[in-house]
Amino acid sequence: MFNVDEIRKDFPMFASNPGLVYFDSSATSFKPQCVIDKVTEYYSRYNCNIHRGDYDISYKVSKEYDDTRETVRHFINANSYKEIVFTNGASSSLNTVAYGYGMKNLKEGDVVLSTYVEHASSILPWFEVCKKTGSRVEYIPLNDDATFNLEKYEECFKTIENIKIVAVAHVSNVMGYIYPVKEICEIAHKYGAIVTVDGAQSVPHVKVDVKNLDCDFLSFSSHKMCGPAGVGVLYGKYELLQNMDTLLLGGGSNARFDSCGNILLKNAPDKFESGTPCIEGVLGLKKAIEYLESIGMDEIDKYVADLTEYAMNKLSKLDNVELYNPTSRNGIITFNVKNIFSQDVSSYLNSRNIAVRSGNHCAKILLNIIKVSETIRASLYFYNTKKEIDYFVDIIKDTTIEKCVDAIL
Ligand code: ALA
Repeated sequence: MFNVDEIRKDFPMFASNPGLVYFDSSATSFKPQCVIDKVTEYYSRYNCNIHRGDYDISYKVSKEYDDTRETVRHFINANSYKEIVFTNGASSSLNTVAYGYGMKNLKEGDVVLSTYVEHASSILPWFEVCKKTGSRVEYIPLNDDATFNLEKYEECFKTIENIKIVAVAHVSNVMGYIYPVKEICEIAHKYGAIVTVDGAQSVPHVKVDVKNLDCDFLSFSSHKMCGPAGVGVLYGKYELLQNMDTLLLGGGSNARFDSCGNILLKNAPDKFESGTPCIEGVLGLKKAIEYLESIGMDEIDKYVADLTEYAMNKLSKLDNVELYNPTSRNGIITFNVKNIFSQDVSSYLNSRNIAVRSGNHCAKILLNIIKVSETIRASLYFYNTKKEIDYFVDIIKDTTIEKCVDAIL
């Protein structure tokens, strides 16, 4: 039974910061004590490298690290643990796909199809890879409210030649809408393209099943889903991982090399993991997944959707608020207080112990759709409450330029 009061006790940030209303979980989530303990346990009880030492604690930590691949595999329902690559975050995973797969497979005249809602990490690598390969990025026309339009999307394949890759966010970090990735993949595959999905904002919130979605790549970060920072996951279909290049060469990823420069790389996923990884982060990610699963991803999704709807309903009644994603239910609420600069509002909210993010949220071309470059984003997670939302809405209701100025001065 989902009990938010009990859940909050798992997160020491609440006890350390009484009264703090943390509405910035899309930037990074709080960590439960079990994850923090796991990281500390590694450093205090079996701190050593993996896959290199012939001694007991090295065997132990290597096994835990390797077991985490199976935990992640199960969590996203991949076919094999060999399809799970550890990176240092979603950005690094997304770059690995663009440079490792895109550089190898795109040629002059090819097209990468993407959207205006993408986070910088999902689109900038493609800008660069397209420049280097003579290919280009084209944009899927979205609906006016930035929701996805499958008909317009399929039309792209009929009007644009040589679409080889579709790069989309599963959930936009600003609009919060969940895009129909299963259908996006089905259509792309029908026309011979592959799909890389930015799952940074979806995997922490909803049950993501890569087999059901049939996506070719999925990238996400540990730190947005209760795990430590510095670790991310790149899921890729095994044959694609095997046939793409690695960006990093070094220890751990090669089977052998000689003085003539011949290198034999290991198979995926090892070939992508040169150097000592963020071991404590991987171990902490395992704990985070176990923690999320103990609550249940469907429970989390349901609770956050209900909380989001509650907040949207209240905010939409305020005359001084412009809401940009009123039908979104994934914890992301993007708005402005009319006639006040977003950062001034977030500074004022800070003075009232409310943490939100303001600005363009690294999604600078979203401006093309919502016609405003700076917004306030309140992002909720399963440890937030209706009481916090009531407090937040009361403050927003009475926000004036004078109060914002006072808070800044
Ligand atoms: N990508 C994170 C965000 O959307 C940092 O805030």
